[in-house]
Amino acid sequence: MKLQVRALCTAAAMLTLLAPLSRGQAAAEYRDHTQAAGSWPQQAVRAAHGMVASDEELGSQAGIEILKRGGNAVDGAVAVAFALAVVEPAAGNIGGGGFMLVRLADGRTTFFDYREVAPGKATRDMYIKPDGTLDKELSVIGYKSVAVPGTVAGLELALKTYGKLKLADVLAPAIHLAEDGFPVSEKLARQLDGERPELQQFTVSRRIFLNDGKMFHAGDTFKQPELAATLKRIAKSGAAEFYRGETAQMIVDDMKRMGGLITLEDLAEYQPKVRQALHANYDLDGHKWGVISSPPPSSGGVAIIEAMNMLQGVPLKGWDDVQSVHMVVETMRRVFADRAAYLADPDFAKVPVDGLTSDCYAKELAATIDPQHASSSKEVKAGMPHVCGVSASNDVAPQRISLNDGPHTTHFSVVDAAGNAVASTYTLNNSYGSGVTSTAGFLLNDEMDDFTTQPGVPNALFGLIQSEANAIAPGHRPLSSMTPTILLRDGKLSFVTGSPGGPTIISATLLSVLNWMRLGMDAQAAINAPRFHHQWMPDVILMEKDFPASMESALNAQGYQTRRRGHIGLVNAIGIDQKTGERLGAADPRDNGAAVGY
Ligand code: DON
Repeated sequence: MKLQVRALCTAAAMLTLLAPLSRGQAAAEYRDHTQAAGSWPQQAVRAAHGMVASDEELGSQAGIEILKRGGNAVDGAVAVAFALAVVEPAAGNIGGGGFMLVRLADGRTTFFDYREVAPGKATRDMYIKPDGTLDKELSVIGYKSVAVPGTVAGLELALKTYGKLKLADVLAPAIHLAEDGFPVSEKLARQLDGERPELQQFTVSRRIFLNDGKMFHAGDTFKQPELAATLKRIAKSGAAEFYRGETAQMIVDDMKRMGGLITLEDLAEYQPKVRQALHANYDLDGHKWGVISSPPPSSGGVAIIEAMNMLQGVPLKGWDDVQSVHMVVETMRRVFADRAAYLADPDFAKVPVDGLTSDCYAKELAATIDPQHASSSKEVKAGMPHVCGVSASNDVAPQRISLNDGPHTTHFSVVDAAGNAVASTYTLNNSYGSGVTSTAGFLLNDEMDDFTTQPGVPNALFGLIQSEANAIAPGHRPLSSMTPTILLRDGKLSFVTGSPGGPTIISATLLSVLNWMRLGMDAQAAINAPRFHHQWMPDVILMEKDFPASMESALNAQGYQTRRRGHIGLVNAIGIDQKTGERLGAADPRDNGAAVGY
């Protein structure tokens, strides 16, 4: 069967929206589109058997190679994740963490949580200076911003649970890419140039990612021998090597030398978790839809289901209709107010998931929306979630706001020939994480900034107030917005989706779901459609540039503040053609995503 490939864009000249970018501003998030939306592909990639949609063509190809060798969607997904750790160093990783949602063709569903955890020596006030103010750099850059990585343990667990192939088999494409190198794309060269101020502060980062100061140019071959050696050790000895072997020792030696907190015990104790995915059902136009999404410590699945519940019965016409945008924005505002107040690591905080995702609660919240005018976020507080038939209790009091963002993360989707599906989002938090590269050849995350770095004070990256329930404590997982999500239609796989983008992950994923399920768009249109975002605080709608000025003025007339943003999210999704069963790979053209099928 012929390999079908689409690398969605070749890079065009790059315009930055905001100049100069500072740490904490999004490399990808604040950029203008690399191509005018008018020239984006209008059709998804079609294939009869398997499909991978990711940010990078080489990453998608790695997944297809494994599917063709007899691997299933989980084997393919693990191969993609390792390959992206080589070819997409901004976000693909073995030094970070993430989530993988698996839905097998036989209906079994599992959520793998390999979110990073705070090291044992982490303390609640570790980013507060002696003068009582927040250190705005420490949680974002350098060794102290690094949380204990989860990716390698999580990928191994997913593979052992559902994969058919061995770790060494699925690591082979990544090892090849690291050892023999791959051609530097315009996108990568540009990103590395943009990250220069941070990366050059760290000797290993400078040597590997800035080519010892000479920089990389499009077309250069980028080889990563240290990373190849690390991946080979993992292939031979499994995740134990990363957490208790030579790699662990290398990480800890760096930490000791450079003032980081992670110890051998932290690494040895790291455990990925298997959690129950969240499920919700909707009747729509004679079909039964199922939404399967991410449970805490992701805030995303709760938010998506709460929003879908609130929007049941609300007519949606499309994103050129002011009323539809208004209703979704007001829904987002309320969902984000709840997210801020209630969501945290469920192993340590009581998260009222059932109440937040109940129909009755959604109806009450929806009734607070004025159909004609914008609400004010000052007046919209977190609600009192409760399940139907039980009144709200004060058992779980709302906490103070918790929102966060970070400039780069990556989502990929995989469907195999048997109909098994994987949606996975994983991250280093910021683009290029903490900026620190381990002597073992991979970047380390700055996920500590997803915690409440100072209760009641705006956080370093995005000036937002964080929740008490999300305070720093050893072994806790910081709250996340990553939202891998899968839709079923009449019990059959229908759509696999997710996005990067900090809190905009939730909006981008929600919009892709609404586009596919409620608006009946085809797969590529569901990804290309312009996006908007409201996260309660600040009280402003972020709108992509492709919305016409008339939409912005109409929203302003309703009382909204609006701000334009280059792009929101990077959704790499796969739809299933309900008639033919074909897989429809719809990668996000906003930053050169690539769908590959066979
Ligand atoms: O887990 C989270 O919610 C964040 N660390 C994700 C950061 C992110 O998506 C940045 N991407 N563009």
